[in-house]
Amino acid sequence: MSRLFAISNRVTIPQRAAAPGGLAVGLLAALRARGGVWFGWSGERSEGEPAPAALLERRGITYATIDLPSGDFDAYYGGYCNGTLWPLFHYFVNSLQYSGEQYAAYLRVNALFADRVLPLLEDDDLVWVHDYHLIPLAGELRARGVTQPLGFFLHTPFPHVEVLRALPGYESLVHGLLAYDLLGFQTARDLASFQSAAAELLGAAAVRATSTVVQEDGRQARLGVFPIGVDVDAIQKAARRSRSSETVRRMSAGLLGRRCVIGVDRLDYSKGLVDRFLAYERLMERHREHLNKVTFLQIAPLSRANLRAYADIRRNLEQSAGRINGRFAETDWTPIRYLNRNFSHEVMTGFLRNAAVGVVTPMRDGMNLVAKEYVAAQDPEEPGVLVLSTLAGAAEELRGALLVNPRDAVGVADAIDCALAMPLAERRSRHAAMLEILQRSDIHAWHERFLGQLARSRSSTMAPADG
Ligand code: G6P
Repeated sequence: MSRLFAISNRVTIPQRAAAPGGLAVGLLAALRARGGVWFGWSGERSEGEPAPAALLERRGITYATIDLPSGDFDAYYGGYCNGTLWPLFHYFVNSLQYSGEQYAAYLRVNALFADRVLPLLEDDDLVWVHDYHLIPLAGELRARGVTQPLGFFLHTPFPHVEVLRALPGYESLVHGLLAYDLLGFQTARDLASFQSAAAELLGAAAVRATSTVVQEDGRQARLGVFPIGVDVDAIQKAARRSRSSETVRRMSAGLLGRRCVIGVDRLDYSKGLVDRFLAYERLMERHREHLNKVTFLQIAPLSRANLRAYADIRRNLEQSAGRINGRFAETDWTPIRYLNRNFSHEVMTGFLRNAAVGVVTPMRDGMNLVAKEYVAAQDPEEPGVLVLSTLAGAAEELRGALLVNPRDAVGVADAIDCALAMPLAERRSRHAAMLEILQRSDIHAWHERFLGQLARSRSSTMAPADG
């Protein structure tokens, strides 16, 4: 079996830091299953020329990390990656910022990644690049003579060309992606959006059927949908084990018999948290029987906290939580418990299992693994109900959820009410249908399918392009 060489902006070394987000969970699962290298940023910055990658071996995985140059870091990470691409890819066109200098820093950091990856590559490697930080990396690696198969998976949504067009120089992003041999998207919608952009640049005839784009020089990029999944068995085991966790027991005891509505999200404006708080307020107004009978637990670990958009959303949420609690709280009841901290995966799984309703209402999301983890963590005999935004990638698969538009506060409030009132038989049948889908398309299916297809592109890159 070829060695997996995975590359992403951030590397998560287990036990060092719990990084929230589907990318870290998915990549660790792939690397645990087949070993290999995980290359990326150490989390540190360096003055002057960054050193070669530092290597750390742990249980069959080599973690290779580099510091990023201080001079480029803000323009690359806070600027082009998270001030330009992140809002654009999540359809927040009005928050999009653009600066040519930030784009230049983005290109320089990608070139640095290529320089530091190069000495570590072996002939038989399958190189799998992840997410929007590293779109130009394939071009940089090819320019350095790399011939190994290069795959790319986008964890976020990909915007339709009519939205993409808002970005100056978007064409180079599309060409950058087409330098990969295999491009993976979360959903059919994202794949279709990418095709809309490729067709515009190369002509509709170049976008063959559903799965290949043929470029001017005859090279082919294959496209596919690979919805990221969860490790259902591991989550079920962790959920059962979590009963003995002191933190989970205290959370349960703290509810004093009330039912729990839970949300777990990185604190990000794309997650729809302000509208979710508003929806909970509508629930309290419209369905007064839930007053003092339900507690909303929102866990939102801080993310990208130095960026203005993230500081703004944090302030907004603090105000909303304060206002709603001030309005409805009793001396023995706090309607919203809002925590900006992270918990271990096992404790989080225990919290999800104990919640009667899981609320996942992003304004836009590539997949959203919390939705899948909520379903996997439930007790099949007594499952809770998932309220899910139609704008999350997970909504393509999880049709057994109560699907909502996250901007419709009254609609979300009524869905939570419906979830709280749902009879056991309906809860069980919705849960069973979703669990079956999660089992069929789990985290192992995700990496096995992607890497299987990428390995096949090794032979096809040797052959002349057909047609
Ligand atoms: C999302 C992105 C990932 C990113 C993660 C955490 O899941 O798709 O690429 O690593 O958020 O964000 P951060 O900026 O802290 O790495």
